[in-house]
Amino acid sequence: MTNRFLRITFLLVGLGLLYPVLGSADTPKPVIHEPEGEGVKCVHPEEEMKRNHMNYILHQRDDTMYDGIRTEKHSLANCIDCHVQPGKDGKIASIETEEHFCKGCHEYAAVTIDCFECHADRPQKFINRGGKNNASLQQDLQTMLSAGTASGDQ
Ligand code: HEC
Ligand code: HEC
Ligand code: HEC
Repeated sequence: MTNRFLRITFLLVGLGLLYPVLGSADTPKPVIHEPEGEGVKCVHPEEEMKRNHMNYILHQRDDTMYDGIRTEKHSLANCIDCHVQPGKDGKIASIETEEHFCKGCHEYAAVTIDCFECHADRPQKFINRGGKNNASLQQDLQTMLSAGTASGDQ
């Protein structure tokens, strides 16, 4: 009786341990499309960006990191300008799809961000005007911040 109980327990524990391994075998590694072109480099070395890209762009770190002063270098628009370009078919991947530079990895790592509810997921030059302007963006941000639901508030 005890033996059988133990065996079942081991089996269950074993399955539990295997689950992440089996689970991740189903999830292919994300394909990351990087900007091409001679001499095109990220704003920081690749390893630094992999690990710390969020620190450069998150709103709530502004005070401590930049004292509210933004540089174009760390602007989200700048990241998007360089990283998001039309594919071979001339279409630009939307943030909803894993072909978008910011989405593939996040989907893989189960990270969710809401930045693109307000920010454009494609370079300005590909946006047809008449959509959100900065004034309505500002308003959305104020509403969101005062409700304390801004992403990354941890
Ligand atoms: C509720 C709307 C809203 C959300 C959500 C939001 N932002 Fe913003 N963000 C703004 C507004 C408004 C500005 C100031 C206007 C501007 O500069 O475009 C701004 C400015 C910025 C800037 C400086 C300007 C620029 O283009 O880089 C960065 C960086 C930024 N946001 C990053 C983020 C990131 C990262 C997220 C997600 C974690 C995020 N934002 C989510 C509204 C939002
Ligand atoms: C002028 C073009 C350019 C700009 C602007 C730029 N990047 Fe990059 N980024 C690159 C290139 C090219 C790479 C590939 C590594 C390299 O050569 O530096 C890269 C790599 C990365 C990686 C690592 C991807 C991987 O394969 O692991 C991340 C994350 C990243 N960038 C995020 C950002 C963010 C966030 C911003 C805005 C703060 C930004 N980048 C601005 C060109 C750019
Ligand atoms: C190389 C893979 C990769 C790419 C490309 C990438 N991210 Fe991330 N990102 C991650 C991982 C992994 C995390 C979670 C890191 C952690 O929790 O320590 C993360 C976290 C974040 C966070 C913080 C989320 C939170 O709530 O704490 C933000 C904001 C973010 N990424 C924005 C972006 C934006 C914007 C882009 C595109 C310009 C981008 N990332 C591209 C892998 C990536």
